[in-house]
Amino acid sequence: MTLLIKGGTIVTAADTYQADILIKDGKIALIGADLEADGAEIVDATGKLVMPGGIDVHTHMELPFFTTVSSDDFYTGQRAAAFGGTTCHIDFANQQKGETLHEALAGWRAKAADKTVIDYGAHISITDLRDDVYDEIDSMLDEGITTLKLFLSYKDMYMLDDGSIFKIMLKAAKLGMLVMVHAENGDVVDTLIKQNVANGNLAPIYHALSHPAWSEAEATLRAVSLAQVAGASLYVVHMTCEESVDQMTYGRKHGLPVMGETCPQYLFATTDNLRQPDGAKWIFSPPVREKKDNAYLWKALADGRLQTVATDHCPFLFDGTTPITYDGEVYESPGKDSGGDDFSKVPNGTHGIEDRLPMLWTYGVGAGHFSPNRFVELMATNPAKIFGLYPQKGTIAPDSDADIVIWDPEATKTIHWQTQHTRTDHNIYEGMDLRGLPEKVFLRGKLLVDGDEWFGVKGEGKFVKRRPFAEIV
Ligand code: URP
Ligand code: ZN
Ligand code: ZN
Repeated sequence: MTLLIKGGTIVTAADTYQADILIKDGKIALIGADLEADGAEIVDATGKLVMPGGIDVHTHMELPFFTTVSSDDFYTGQRAAAFGGTTCHIDFANQQKGETLHEALAGWRAKAADKTVIDYGAHISITDLRDDVYDEIDSMLDEGITTLKLFLSYKDMYMLDDGSIFKIMLKAAKLGMLVMVHAENGDVVDTLIKQNVANGNLAPIYHALSHPAWSEAEATLRAVSLAQVAGASLYVVHMTCEESVDQMTYGRKHGLPVMGETCPQYLFATTDNLRQPDGAKWIFSPPVREKKDNAYLWKALADGRLQTVATDHCPFLFDGTTPITYDGEVYESPGKDSGGDDFSKVPNGTHGIEDRLPMLWTYGVGAGHFSPNRFVELMATNPAKIFGLYPQKGTIAPDSDADIVIWDPEATKTIHWQTQHTRTDHNIYEGMDLRGLPEKVFLRGKLLVDGDEWFGVKGEGKFVKRRPFAEIV
């Protein structure tokens, strides 16, 4: 199949220029002025921007959490991603206690199976470091998995001790694997949760009060320090606040190969949201912080102290007692309400995979925080470089996959959960206005989305194997 995208303005992390793009067999074949190709299907992009598809490196489709499971499966979550301009994501295969890494991976792959509509990869989360699991780590590379996720929090569930973390980092350094951490001090969080519950402090705001910013800062600096000693590269997921970004900055100032991600929810939401009657919608970990942290994170994205924006996409219904209709089918699942009025029992997580690009364009580029090129860098190019996908993905260049978004910078809409595509019953950005939206989205040259229309086909999203020794940006 040959496709010719004509008349658009190409935006990459490095350049903005007018050119046509010829696509053959799913790859970008040629970029140039006034291209012609016999028999090619022409896509008119006049007046539009042409950008690489978004890459979201932090998602949790169908994640079991407490007594429920996150409400997007690989089909509904990837469909939502495509409607938001994202054409590739990396999800987490979480090892359960007693499992091998291969068993965890097989279970995760079975969930994705024939549901996929965009390209996807996996990180492996190690939660039970036995000797056999330690020995298994090397073989993850054969599976195309180059990233090891470790938790410094979620005591008695996912958390590892420092000795295990350090041991894994030493091995990761040798193999060229990237260590990813959820950085909160799990003992501090666990103690504060127990104290608050014992004192009857059960409202959603106590979620934030049990996960203090300095416990995130402590865990961030601990992970940075352990990585330095082990000689490992480090990526800290979902950074929320000034205190933790400063620890990351300290490490980077010392020349360490350490990088940080934030997520849209930490740029927009605050503890005020937790104090609302529907505050449970904002229960995720680490928690929302304060307005000054929102502002600090925007600055850190603009000036390079943070390297990516991912989403930690992990939605739940708010009201699990009321089924919703999604894509013509009835869906029901225990929701945030399954925690009753006890914040510590509310499943942690929120959506974001569809909202990420439009929200960051509108309130990042549109509000003057950063340029369209930096937007592409944060949303696609840096994720591809850090996670071993570049230049196959994350840019517009000859021989790259034709994962392309034709972006209308003037298109507007107001967010309403009913017209978004994530399978849930609310949106934490409800009522917010957007200017700048994907118009057409292509995966390896195939049209997935055209305005409100869906053309994706289940099973066409491919698992991507990634390279070790990836870039530090
Ligand atoms: O609240 C969250 N973030 N849920 C998903 C699991 C995690 O910690 O990333
Ligand atoms: Zn986490
Ligand atoms: Zn997560």
